[in-house]
Amino acid sequence: MEFSIKNGSPEKLRAGALVVGVFESRKLTAAASVLDAASKGRIAEIVASGDMEGKAGSTLLLHKLPGVAADRVLLVGLGKEKEFGIREYRDAIANSVRALRDTGATDAISTLADTAPRKKGAAWALRQAATVSLDVLYRYDTHARHKPDESRALAKMAFVAPKKTSAAAAGEALAQGEAIGHGMALARTLGNLPPNVCTPTYLAEQAVGLGRKTGIAVTVLERADMQKLGMGSLLSVGNGSRQPPKFIAMEYRAGKKADAPIVLVGKGITFDSGGISLKPGEGMDEMKYDMCGAASVLGTMQALAAMKLPINVVGLIPTTENMPGGAATRPGDVVKSMSGQTIEILNTDAEGRLILCDALTYAERYDPACVVDIATLTGACIIALGHVTSGLMANDDALADQLYQAGQTSHDRAWRLPIWDDYQEQLKSNFADVGNIGGRPAGSITAACFLARFTKKYKWAHLDIAGTAWKSGKEKGATGRPVPLLTHFLLERAGKL
Ligand code: BES
Ligand code: MN
Ligand code: ZN
Repeated sequence: MEFSIKNGSPEKLRAGALVVGVFESRKLTAAASVLDAASKGRIAEIVASGDMEGKAGSTLLLHKLPGVAADRVLLVGLGKEKEFGIREYRDAIANSVRALRDTGATDAISTLADTAPRKKGAAWALRQAATVSLDVLYRYDTHARHKPDESRALAKMAFVAPKKTSAAAAGEALAQGEAIGHGMALARTLGNLPPNVCTPTYLAEQAVGLGRKTGIAVTVLERADMQKLGMGSLLSVGNGSRQPPKFIAMEYRAGKKADAPIVLVGKGITFDSGGISLKPGEGMDEMKYDMCGAASVLGTMQALAAMKLPINVVGLIPTTENMPGGAATRPGDVVKSMSGQTIEILNTDAEGRLILCDALTYAERYDPACVVDIATLTGACIIALGHVTSGLMANDDALADQLYQAGQTSHDRAWRLPIWDDYQEQLKSNFADVGNIGGRPAGSITAACFLARFTKKYKWAHLDIAGTAWKSGKEKGATGRPVPLLTHFLLERAGKL
């Protein structure tokens, strides 16, 4: 998809399709009114006929409207004008792109950015438009036998910038939205790939490939390297697997040399069977998504490089499989983490925290400005927050606020939960410094409290994406979240929002 900004009066714009909005109770948007005047009242006539009443989710395609240069006009219902907010705007963009995809138009111009909530600003409207468009057009067909015919696919999409937007600002916002959309697509594909393909070795290869394309410096640590570093906790998780574990470090340095980097840490369990504490069979295929934290780090690093943000960011990915077997870790085993703390493994299915804790200790060597880890960590997070918002926990209020705000702005939301020391009680072990489970109550919080024991030396936040990283059922597949949140956080830190 090629994105661009177009200027000019709507009736004069040449394109395969021109997109304009209509509010409920038949109120035309500014662009629709202009087309109505140019076509001597055709739009008002169609709207009055009842064929397009402006209901949210409705669309109507018109051909060869008199007085209008575009081949087609797509009317998009926006719902009630008073209720038109962020969600409605994103839905309108998504519905318009879905409708365009099913037409013969290979290029389109949309005027919808002008309908976005005013207080959000033009840059926000354009950034969202590009990201949402790419997200709708994303298709996973890596293992499909019949790939769809691309010759008639929508290939060019232009947006008319809201008035008083400079060309430079509009172009930059669109490019940001595009980078985020491509970052999400990468995260979605990595998540969707089957676990026999997307192994730790595969993730490491992807990271190296991304490094080659972008100039990000990528290092991959092997089992022996991790042994030398004392990553006994991380390594214990992979003991039952035939797949070798990897530790991926990606360094993007475009900021001042002296600037401390932001470190992102992504959970990369390429398949979580539970290990000896085996999961029930039903729905176990979905545990291929247990590397979505890692995928979001890769997607965000790609977006960051595409936008050339002037900051320093390190991406760390501990990655392994969690499998049962004769060599697998047992409940009752005690392992020593890189931090020196010993851990009693009471449930081998609480493996995410075991790989993250060593990565979090490794992060100390960067003397980071802050560390954010991203993990499909707990089923309990789905019980607490559902599939709407990610869980957010932090040892620093300012950092938590920044991530919360990034979630709001990107509409990839996160909601904070407490990690007070009172909860540490639940992690006490009789046989080691800490146990790896805290019982049923507040499962997401005790998981984060476990991690908090390894993040005392820096500002740290944790995103539990168990409920948001993928969808089940008919629309089964990875969502690409929280790439938009993370990218907006970095945009803000780079002074580009
Ligand atoms: N990857 C899972 C968490 C998960 C489960 C995410 C279901 C999304 C859907 C994690 O490794 C896990 O198994 N966590 C356990 C922890 C428990 C044993 C303390 C869980 O949530 O049940
Ligand atoms: Mn598990
Ligand atoms: Zn897991």
